[in-house]
Amino acid sequence: MRINIAIDGPSASGKSTVSREICKRLNYIHLDTGAMYRCAALHAKNTHTNINDEKQLLNMLETLEIDLTEDEKVILNGEDVTDEIRTDEISMASSDISTKKVVREKLVEMQQKMAENKGFVMDGRDIGTVVLPDAEVKIYLTASASARAMRRFLENQKRGIESNLITLKNEIVDRDYQDMHRKHSPLKQAEDAVLIDSSDMTITEVVDEVMRIISEKI
Ligand code: DC
Repeated sequence: MRINIAIDGPSASGKSTVSREICKRLNYIHLDTGAMYRCAALHAKNTHTNINDEKQLLNMLETLEIDLTEDEKVILNGEDVTDEIRTDEISMASSDISTKKVVREKLVEMQQKMAENKGFVMDGRDIGTVVLPDAEVKIYLTASASARAMRRFLENQKRGIESNLITLKNEIVDRDYQDMHRKHSPLKQAEDAVLIDSSDMTITEVVDEVMRIISEKI
């Protein structure tokens, strides 16, 4: 039996890494909804859209085409933007644009269409609460801000990107606050989601725990 799995949680909690690993083990398809808000932010920047002007936002959304490929590439209007959407500037801009109702409505509709069939692992902020309220498995994955900042720091180091641990932690705390306190679909744990705090867990331990929860359902 194929099911849908919703993984929500704050930034840098390991949602994407865990989702990818689960997909490998189950041969499911991963949908990274954060990448879609990042595309919206990049497209708004490229089209000089004032995100506080709803008419301009609606115009921007009309020309927004996003393709998430099976090999985890992110294509925005035909262009590969996989790396370009991961900058600090776009991270904060995606959190800003995700507060806008018209943007959420459009992206949620796209996400629900994408996951019409079963066999998806979708990660984001509102998957268990809004996008897939009927998902058979819901996980709320979190970790302390210090642990998440340290992971980002080490990840950057590996990629040869210089970063400052305190700045990273401040950015994480700011984005958490904005994502959890916005008016429309704020980040929160769905009532029927299982909470996993990965502060002191390895990725493999988290994946094993999620697989155990899934195996109870299928
Ligand atoms: O998961 P991420 O860090 O790539 O997401 C970038 C931003 O997009 C995040 O700060 C909030 C927003 N987002 C959202 O509002 N709803 C989602 N389902 C996914 C992301």
